Amino acid sequence: MPWAPASNVSAATHDREGGADHAIDSGHGSVPELVDGLDSKSSAFGHVGSSPTAPIPAPRPGEVTPSAVMDTYARFPLTLVRGKDVWVWDDRGNRYLDAVAGIAVCTLGHSSPALRRALCRQLATLQHVSNLYRIPEQEELAAAIAQRSCADRVFFCNSGAEANEAAIKLARKHGHERRGIARPLILTAEASFHGRTLAAVTATGQPRYHQGFEPMVEGFRYFPYNDGPAFDALLDSCEAEGPAVAAVLLEPLQGEGGVHPGDPAFFRLVRERCDERGILLILDEVQIGVGRSGRWWGYEHLGVEPDAFTLAKGLGGGIPIGALAVKASCDILRPGEHASTFGGNPLACRAGLTVLREIERRQLLSRVTHVGQRLRERLEELVRRHPDRLAGVRGWGLLLGLALQPDALTAPEVVKAAMAEGLLLVPAGASVVRFVPPLVIQPRHGRELVKRLERALARLR
Ligand SMILES: Cc1ncc(COP(=O)(O)O)c(C=O)c1O
Repeated sequence: MPWAPASNVSAATHDREGGADHAIDSGHGSVPELVDGLDSKSSAFGHVGSSPTAPIPAPRPGEVTPSAVMDTYARFPLTLVRGKDVWVWDDRGNRYLDAVAGIAVCTLGHSSPALRRALCRQLATLQHVSNLYRIPEQEELAAAIAQRSCADRVFFCNSGAEANEAAIKLARKHGHERRGIARPLILTAEASFHGRTLAAVTATGQPRYHQGFEPMVEGFRYFPYNDGPAFDALLDSCEAEGPAVAAVLLEPLQGEGGVHPGDPAFFRLVRERCDERGILLILDEVQIGVGRSGRWWGYEHLGVEPDAFTLAKGLGGGIPIGALAVKASCDILRPGEHASTFGGNPLACRAGLTVLREIERRQLLSRVTHVGQRLRERLEELVRRHPDRLAGVRGWGLLLGLALQPDALTAPEVVKAAMAEGLLLVPAGASVVRFVPPLVIQPRHGRELVKRLERALARLR
């Protein structure tokens, strides 16, 4: 799909701050540091242009250009060019309150001074070395995660799907070695989301993500989320003839699947069954982990500890990093059994360390709880005023979902109308709108968010 003109959302003019020139000229102080030496005449990208040294011409604001990017995303017609804290600007100078944050990624907001400083220093020191060697930043980040969680050791990779791939390999090895299973099974929930690589997407209990990519990876079985009897029935049928299940993989709160928090009673039951049989309980904390729920990890809301959990998204605050964190009891992957070229490099780990430190220094966990609660109350008030169109609010901390009345509104149309009011939101399924702003959001931003949302709803009358 070629870029569509940004004019589709041109109604977002109330927050206009000059034009594109302004957007570029008024950039934040240290951005040039990051692009030092890559001016428009740099030959670094010269091979792409019409001559070996031709710079790539920047598209003009709103210009429709054919795209060389593969067509794997249904993109909104919006081009974001800069950001500051909870705000982002498009290529026409329109300002948006960002309740997407790169889909629960930009923990410290956009252009965070602390992250910029730390990354610039790290770039000037050492950016990447191989896992052939010890990496102090990686050791430090692993220790920092272990100190704040039930885990003892950490493997680093680059994304949520990769973290789950590592968890799946760990589970299979556990099944083979500890339970003597030749073809180990992993149980996951319907409506879950674990990523797009082949095993992670197979773990994802949503058939629409499988279609066209069969055969899927063998060894996955699904049950309805938060349904104890259904889980027991599946476990019993899988193990009718002896050990067959290596692990249960669950999100503490299902994000993509519609913002459904886990039920503590259900998770306690799963924990019990896993303990009885020597099955691993692995939690996918990729979206809810690293403070987004108001606690460090989603499992803290559920009264259980996992044997292992996965992280990505918010851990790097925008720098790609993923992690598999394990208790010592299931730290069973040995040298040569799993690896990643980029995983845990000094730059990514510096980002992770800075995110963890800033969450503590700025006391963001209590802020997330407070702002999340106020935002939730305001959204609930909106639901009370529009019961014909809005169905309810769910979630923890700053991962909230506004459920729509499916006959009245769809999530994509609300997201589009919100964009026209200078507010960025993301659907979680067809009839839930998701709020995952940076954790540095202030109460006044929450008020502004709801005002803009209400104006967006008025547009859809
Ligand atoms: C719970 C969960 N797990 C895994 C993933 C996949 O992460 P990534 O896109 O970084 O591979 C996501 C992404 O949305 C997620 O929400």
